Amino acid sequence: MLEVGKLSDLKEDNPLYFENGNAKIAVFLVDGEPVATQANCPHANGPLHKGSICDHVLSCPWHGWSYDLKTGACEDDPGIKLEIYPVSVEENTVYVSLVEN
Ligand code: FES
Repeated sequence: MLEVGKLSDLKEDNPLYFENGNAKIAVFLVDGEPVATQANCPHANGPLHKGSICDHVLSCPWHGWSYDLKTGACEDDPGIKLEIYPVSVEENTVYVSLVEN
């Protein structure tokens, strides 16, 4: 498990962002729960942690592709799915496993 930040720093308009080698991870607050995904957009590697969220749907800041943060489904291309990773929280610290859910 990778330590990616503090739960108290995670806000709906302020996701956590973490890089570990080639892995770029974003943790979003979705309905009060942390959700970890790949931070690079599958379309053209845009920074998803800088996107906007409305009703658990994340929009990429570069070209606007949208992803359902509960399922990883891409609303613009059904053949693409965002990687979602297991998250755990211990004493205000957020951990992510790079094994896909
Ligand atoms: S890079 Fe995200 S929509 Fe193009």
